[in-house]
Amino acid sequence: MAYKTIIEPFRVHTVQAIDLPDAAAREAALVRSGYNLFGLHAEEVIIDLLTDSGTGAMSTRQWSGMMLGDESYAGSRSFYRFERVVQELTGYSEIIPTHQGRAAEKILFTVAVDEGDLVPNNTHFDTTRANVEYRGATAFDCVCAEGHDPSLEAPFKGNVDIEALRAVILEHGVEQVPLVMVTVTNNSGGGQPVSMANLRAVRAVCDEFGIPLFLDACRFAENAWFIKLREPGYADRTPREIAREMFAIADGCTMSAKKDGLANIGGFLALNDREWARQARNLLILTEGFPTYGGLAGYDLEAIATGLEEVLDEQYLHYRIRSTEYLAETVHRAGIPTVRPPGGHAVYLDAAALLPHIPPHQYPAQALAIALYRAGGVRGVEIGTVMFGRARAGEPDEPAAMELVRLAIPRRMYTQSHIDYVGEVILDTAAHADELRGYRIVEQAPWLRHFTARLEPLA
Ligand SMILES: Cc1ncc(COP(=O)(O)O)c(C=O)c1O
Repeated sequence: MAYKTIIEPFRVHTVQAIDLPDAAAREAALVRSGYNLFGLHAEEVIIDLLTDSGTGAMSTRQWSGMMLGDESYAGSRSFYRFERVVQELTGYSEIIPTHQGRAAEKILFTVAVDEGDLVPNNTHFDTTRANVEYRGATAFDCVCAEGHDPSLEAPFKGNVDIEALRAVILEHGVEQVPLVMVTVTNNSGGGQPVSMANLRAVRAVCDEFGIPLFLDACRFAENAWFIKLREPGYADRTPREIAREMFAIADGCTMSAKKDGLANIGGFLALNDREWARQARNLLILTEGFPTYGGLAGYDLEAIATGLEEVLDEQYLHYRIRSTEYLAETVHRAGIPTVRPPGGHAVYLDAAALLPHIPPHQYPAQALAIALYRAGGVRGVEIGTVMFGRARAGEPDEPAAMELVRLAIPRRMYTQSHIDYVGEVILDTAAHADELRGYRIVEQAPWLRHFTARLEPLA
């Protein structure tokens, strides 16, 4: 490229108005929601970086493809197109549609995981962890050492710590480790990629013990792009070739099509084991629907099939990763601590480093996320002790490994000036960081508490 400006490789076709509520309205919204940004109405937010999940803009090809949706209950043409696209991408034979990623997790773990088992992962995403724990099993994280140091610059901070993986399998007992998972990219660890070499090393450990390997593949295309950019030997390979190689290393995957499926809803479980697939389909019928729609409309299956084709476009991936980096650079240049290098789908602010005066059990990342909303109507999400810490009766919470605010960028949604605005809000908020105060939780659910907890500001 002769010029350095990243241009969106699309033009806007349909628009949705957004508006910034005034400061008093934002304050009232915070009080009403119990200082939990999940409780805000979307209309109370001007730039919504809560999640990149299902929030992206679909293409004209996807919208027009939806008109071709076949809504037959059984054997819909749209299912067979979806199945073919997923089979060609992943190489797996058994393709089971679900309404989103966590439904695929629930079904897989119900089939494969029993009480007392242990599932290793680089870092479990919150729903993945909850679904493992719901089975009475242990969700064990073993991301590499670099992955624990937010400011360290390293190319593949999502890699699995291979020694820790071997050790935990031996310690827990091979027969009680039904599968190993690797999350690509590692969302809860900063959206950091996993290298092909590391996937191969995980595979070797799985082969040594005869344990199946599954990918949590929500952001497989972004991971493939990082491999192309950063791993020797991949520069001349297409994202599709790299993605296929990643999938070929594993035995199956769970997928939320709301991310790299470029769709607003949907997911799947894909695998080669026919017996696990048979059991999974039986469960699917119980909770999701018949195996040729799995809780989705025929038009959703069309949108996902087209999204999976579009997401591997090199121009799209170049723009996607570069535009996330653009926001990260604005913040980094201003000396604000972030997870380095920037991940694929989000910029992660390091609240522990920015707010050292707020201890983990007073939720520094929650305080920062609230401050960003208060300052400019920007909604991010806490990935810290509210999300991952453990409540202990009569004692402060057990802290999470990191205190991050994730600003996840919806795909193909915001322009560069929206992102410039977000940069200004962050810089202004950080300039007053020492004035921010912590919070306490006044109400919480026994699992996934961050979605519904109510908090109160500390004096
Ligand atoms: C890594 C990862 N795994 C699983 C999920 C769950 O997917 P869903 O929200 O579609 O249930 C997510 C969602 O954000 C995710 O990021």
